[in-house]
Amino acid sequence: MLHNENLTAERPTFVTHLECAYTGEHYPADAVHNLSRAGKPLLVRYDLEGVRKALSKEALARRPADLWRYRELLPVRRTRDIVSLGEVVTPLVPLPKLAAPGGELIVKDEGRLPTGSFKARGLVMAVSMAKALGITHMAMPTNGNAGAALAAYASSAGIKTTIFCPEDTPEVNVSEIALQGATVYRVNGLIDDCGKIVGEGKAKVGWFDVSTLKEPYRIEGKKTMGLELAEQLGWDVPDVILYPTGGGTGLIGMWKAFAELEAIGFIGKKRPRMVAVQAAGCAPMVRAYEAGEEHAPRWENAHTIASGIRVPQAVGDFLILRAVRESGGFAIAVDDDAITAALAEAARVEGFLMCPEGAATYAAYKQGLADGRIRRDERAVLFNCATGLKYPLPPIHRTLDRHKPIDFAAL
Ligand SMILES: Cc1ncc(COP(=O)(O)O)c(C=O)c1O
Repeated sequence: MLHNENLTAERPTFVTHLECAYTGEHYPADAVHNLSRAGKPLLVRYDLEGVRKALSKEALARRPADLWRYRELLPVRRTRDIVSLGEVVTPLVPLPKLAAPGGELIVKDEGRLPTGSFKARGLVMAVSMAKALGITHMAMPTNGNAGAALAAYASSAGIKTTIFCPEDTPEVNVSEIALQGATVYRVNGLIDDCGKIVGEGKAKVGWFDVSTLKEPYRIEGKKTMGLELAEQLGWDVPDVILYPTGGGTGLIGMWKAFAELEAIGFIGKKRPRMVAVQAAGCAPMVRAYEAGEEHAPRWENAHTIASGIRVPQAVGDFLILRAVRESGGFAIAVDDDAITAALAEAARVEGFLMCPEGAATYAAYKQGLADGRIRRDERAVLFNCATGLKYPLPPIHRTLDRHKPIDFAAL
């Protein structure tokens, strides 16, 4: 079936209201929102009993393979507001040679999505809702991939975008953001410094702030990672999920997805242990997890080659920590050398080129096996959140002069 045929059907949705993730205070659906009055993220709530009656696994199985198949659990009410660039169901790729003997190691490869990263999931939802709500100018701080996805979807929707990234953001990200129609600035600071500029622009000239978890719909898009994963595993969940955690939208979103799937009767009580993987040079969640804290203060002098997870402070910190603890999981830091080695090993041994953030999850898997927090016989899922091709790769200097005799036996 052509992808776009899926977009012609009207979409019943079951959104009832939004809710402050901290205080539980209710907010009306179908209105423009950022954070709650308590300064915390808003979560979208659904009539799950209604969804349970309206949706069967069999009906779902007949729908096209894209994230819009979960429309009853998504916030977009009208088909005409959907801004699609061809979102696909991302494959589960087994890595049998890297798995512990007797265990299973699977990568959910998010690099196959439009703009080459899982940020497409969140931004397709945020931009579709922005279109529905009549927003005309969106602004965002980004480590690269989110800005690229925002630029692409917003340009497609005819919405203006202004984007700020740290000055050392990978070149390809800055270029793709600009080419896809956004005005992008490199800022001499980190992502939270960029976020402050967006906040000021919101106050002074009325930009709509699309920062991670500061608008309610990116998480609904990211939630589809959990919906997809459970469906792909035959309505089961893995033992462990290792997720490269910056702002944490994906981890929080998947945790919400599993609760909603249980409420509509699609899965049982079993939950994966959620493992928040961070870089040793920027590990605020690991520090807070180990200290037993509910919130994670800013990590000073943050640095790592895994730029997507270089997030010194996250507004959804308590939600990340809550999901990790409720699931019986943990937060773990891996250093840049371990990330580089993991990336090279997965590429060489399995032919799978991960992004550095994805490679961090493989490094964490190995560390978890070594310290006993992951058992060898378990089924573990890693999230490779972007294509490895978006990142600078090591240069190769080997050449061959075709005009000289070639010693084939030595090649
Ligand atoms: C490739 C990659 N992995 C992981 C992350 C972290 O995602 P989250 O904000 O959901 O924690 C990002 C965010 O920029 C990213 O680009």
